[in-house]
Amino acid sequence: MEPYSLPPLRYEYCALEPWIDEQTMRIHHDHHHRRYVQALNETEARLAAVRTSGDHLLIQSLQQRTASLASAHYLHRLFWDSMGQYQGRPEGDLAAQIDEDFGSFTALKFQLSAAAVGMESGGWVLLAWQPATQRLVAMMVEGNLVQADWAIVPLMALDVWEHAYYLKYQQRRAEYVHNWWNTVDWARVGVRFNGAVDDRPFRSRLGPSARDRDGTQSLPAGFAAAAPAGHLVVVR
Ligand SMILES: [Fe+2]
Repeated sequence: MEPYSLPPLRYEYCALEPWIDEQTMRIHHDHHHRRYVQALNETEARLAAVRTSGDHLLIQSLQQRTASLASAHYLHRLFWDSMGQYQGRPEGDLAAQIDEDFGSFTALKFQLSAAAVGMESGGWVLLAWQPATQRLVAMMVEGNLVQADWAIVPLMALDVWEHAYYLKYQQRRAEYVHNWWNTVDWARVGVRFNGAVDDRPFRSRLGPSARDRDGTQSLPAGFAAAAPAGHLVVVR
């Protein structure tokens, strides 16, 4: 049995109409994501076979490809799970945290949309929780591979590779991004947010945040100036 598999969608292929059409969903999930999973299994098997070969250039190349494919697999899973039943806007603790860190829900959408539309290549934009600073952050990932800032918990992902929208929107990426907000399942994002905030072992590995210690906004050593409110992290 292979270690990675393609999870089924938890909604119908047509569930996101009219914002994302059924044909795009079928091709994206059943072909593009499946191919990432197949390639990930193949590449990991090749890597295991040459681990002790002494061919370090080949091992390094396979490691890089494995990391990129694994990230693509993970981000697609998050993308599918970020969408579903339309709820309009975040609620509860997540909504309050968005207001605190971005100023408003509108400001969050503007920042992530601008990142998605402005990206030169294919890639992703994410909403993530940064435990060390106890803040939500907007992230832009070019390609599939996150090479920095592992100390975040991704909460929501938007796929801005052309295969995610080209059938319906062609070159009109901005229209796709604008409409995509209608597909976000904020209840699912809220569940991930609550889980991330409560992940005490993760937080303890990073050290206590300033808010844990004394309720102020000052940051732990090493994180000073790392994260102004709602900052955009560019990961290449
Ligand atoms: Fe994709």
